[in-house]
Amino acid sequence: MCGIMGYVGPQQAAPIIIDGLKRLEYRGYDSAGIAVANSRIDVRKSEGKIVRLAALLDREPLEGTVGIGHTRWATHGKPSDLNAHPHTDPTGSFVVVHNGIIENFQTLREELESGGAALTSETDTEILAHLVAEEYDGDLAAAVRRAVERAEGAYALVVMTINEPRKIVAVRKISPLIVGLGDGETFLASDIPAVLHRTRDFLIVEDDELVTITEDGAVIETIDGGVVDRDVMHIDWDAEQAEKGGFEHFMLKEIYEQPAVITETLGGRLGEDGTTWLEDVEFDDAFVRDLETVWITACGTAYHAGLVGREIFQRVLRLPTIVEYAHEMRYADPMIKRGDLTIAISQSGETADTLAAARLAAERGSRMLALTNVVASTLSRYADDILYTRAGPEISVASTKAYLAMLIGQYLLALRLGTARGSIDRERATEIARGLNRLPAQVEEILEHDQAIVDAAGAIVDADDIYFIGRGLDYAVAMEGSLKLKEISYLHSEAMPAGELKHGTLALITDDVPVVVVVTQRATYDKTISAVQEVKARGGKVVAVAYDTDTEIEKFAEIVLRIPETDDLLAPVNAAVPLQLLAYHVAKLRGHGIDQPRNLAKSVTVE
Ligand code: G6P
Repeated sequence: MCGIMGYVGPQQAAPIIIDGLKRLEYRGYDSAGIAVANSRIDVRKSEGKIVRLAALLDREPLEGTVGIGHTRWATHGKPSDLNAHPHTDPTGSFVVVHNGIIENFQTLREELESGGAALTSETDTEILAHLVAEEYDGDLAAAVRRAVERAEGAYALVVMTINEPRKIVAVRKISPLIVGLGDGETFLASDIPAVLHRTRDFLIVEDDELVTITEDGAVIETIDGGVVDRDVMHIDWDAEQAEKGGFEHFMLKEIYEQPAVITETLGGRLGEDGTTWLEDVEFDDAFVRDLETVWITACGTAYHAGLVGREIFQRVLRLPTIVEYAHEMRYADPMIKRGDLTIAISQSGETADTLAAARLAAERGSRMLALTNVVASTLSRYADDILYTRAGPEISVASTKAYLAMLIGQYLLALRLGTARGSIDRERATEIARGLNRLPAQVEEILEHDQAIVDAAGAIVDADDIYFIGRGLDYAVAMEGSLKLKEISYLHSEAMPAGELKHGTLALITDDVPVVVVVTQRATYDKTISAVQEVKARGGKVVAVAYDTDTEIEKFAEIVLRIPETDDLLAPVNAAVPLQLLAYHVAKLRGHGIDQPRNLAKSVTVE
């Protein structure tokens, strides 16, 4: 989604802004732009990648030490030079960049046009530049306040004016915004990695707050002008963590980080007998004992983590667990009631639909637990309870380590809830804890023996369609394996429960059509093998993900990707890893860019 960067200080602004925008590339974008103030404000913008903007700046440089920049992901108006941010008012004295959507954009546009304003772009953002200019009477912060009062929707809006050239004013409603505090210089960005190499001290701007930055620092106020005393947050992330560190792609690097991520996510939270210490999970045992329904809501890969969660919670808690896409749940009038627990899962904690579904659950009286990777994300601030996944910054659009960490988080929650309800005994909790603690070494083992996966990628790379099947937990993993493959290799891929194959899709299985089967669950092993036989009988090419102790599978599958045996409940963690690598290697063989798949964004902060 859009990225924002702002700078006030002693250095030239343009290179710092371009560098920050590059570090936000993972959010996905289709055009980029920059404005720098000097004796006047000049703007450069360009459709396409930041390198094009940088080339434009080489030809037409911008001098000045205050500036703002933006990477745009089109919502109103197609990607183009004209629609790229920054946008200005007609005099060029006010310049804005904006992340989010202005919902009453059409009404405001008509209002401005009937007053004689000439709008040059198709964007909702240009309107904000006009509104700020209209409202200005010598105080930029006051003008921004009055302008956003007229606008409905979600925004992180950043404004500069030549009339007050040593400051930047920004306001936030829903879309993320952070301030980086340097020595005699101050940064604004939509995300911490943009400036983590320049400072470790941050202020998080919250919803309905306005911030003014100068080289001396930042002042945050509420949108109504109230005083805000925000603590400085010191971030310990290693700057290296946000960079590729020797791997060809962020995705591969993030896949290889997974053993460490599992260790981190479990760290200090799990006792040998399955006792858990979950620092921001505050519900008490009485709440857990009275619990009747668990809801899980999320989008994309986080939803697939939720599918695994459903199985875990139902098995461990023996409680109905309903998992819904957030964009479905919010319009489905779900029967969520007081005393329920809703787990909202989101890597970024900023996905608009997930935030809306989480709010709905809270409005209906459910307790809301955020399972998220981003500290101080919007989702975590809405939540009654938070479980951070501790996966570190994830740059690749296709999520891998964040997914695995979401699974680990749900095992921890299941232990916490299951032991409090008495639905599992100490012996079972101890077994699960032991299994969890073995996972980092087991994932490491899969990563060290990846040749079979590279070979499998070679065997399926030329297919037009691929199918993924499994039952129960294996089906949940198959869903994620299929998504990984399609989003980065652009191969058509579908996942379904193994038993569903014969109800339609079998018609598409002909010679050499690859079918990937995840077959770890002992209780349904034979049933899944029956589906595999149906595939084989039609000439399909079977690729199986199976335990290393499975001595039968080679009879049925052409290619077997081995994973270390675990307790069946924990198998999704190991089973997901070869599927992530399979997707990666197929995409690489097909010559795709991998980290930023076409048309996709890392964080979808609009509906
Ligand atoms: C986008 C990303 C996916 C991600 C989904 C949910 O579609 O491309 O990788 O799974 O959003 O994101 P979240 O941050 O809420 O987990």
